Amino acid sequence: MTKVTLITGSTMGSAEYVAEHIAEILEKTGFDTEVTYGPSLKDLPTKGIWLIVCSTHGAGELPENIQPLAKEISEEKPDLSQINYGAIGIGSREYDTFCGAIHTLDQLLKDHHAKRVGELLEIDIQEYDVPEEPAEIWIEKWKDNITVLNK
Ligand SMILES: Cc1cc2nc3c(=O)[nH]c(=O)nc-3n(C[C@H](O)[C@H](O)[C@H](O)COP(=O)(O)O)c2cc1C
Repeated sequence: MTKVTLITGSTMGSAEYVAEHIAEILEKTGFDTEVTYGPSLKDLPTKGIWLIVCSTHGAGELPENIQPLAKEISEEKPDLSQINYGAIGIGSREYDTFCGAIHTLDQLLKDHHAKRVGELLEIDIQEYDVPEEPAEIWIEKWKDNITVLNK
């Protein structure tokens, strides 16, 4: 069974709810999932599939709970070439730095040779009262991409 490790960065819980909802969808369609909340690098597989779900705080900054992971990746420079990942950002277009955090993480993972699968999804909470909705649509295509990858 293909495993997806969901990595959440969140301050007030929205990104976590989105990740948990998506994990349920993945489970129902035959994936094995683990949702992690601001994990440490050593808690994560260095081979396989990650799905990052992260909001933005401050002025384009990472939520506090995911800052340690970003720091570990920057400093320890792990080889992430065996990682394929998806990326979902949650933010608000009322900020110039809309979804800044997921773009920072996307670049960080690329810099360490991880490969992104599918488009990066940016969810604007001003547009969607329920951020799970656009994520539900996005995940359908993403899981097909992942399935193809594993064939
Ligand atoms: C103090 C503060 C700063 C924020 N800064 C940004 C920002 O720079 N860019 C952005 O896209 N959204 C920003 N947001 C919007 C949040 O990302 C949005 O409310 C999101 O749903 C929070 O998700 P979370 O509950 O998972 O932390 C900010 C929100 C707050 C309260």
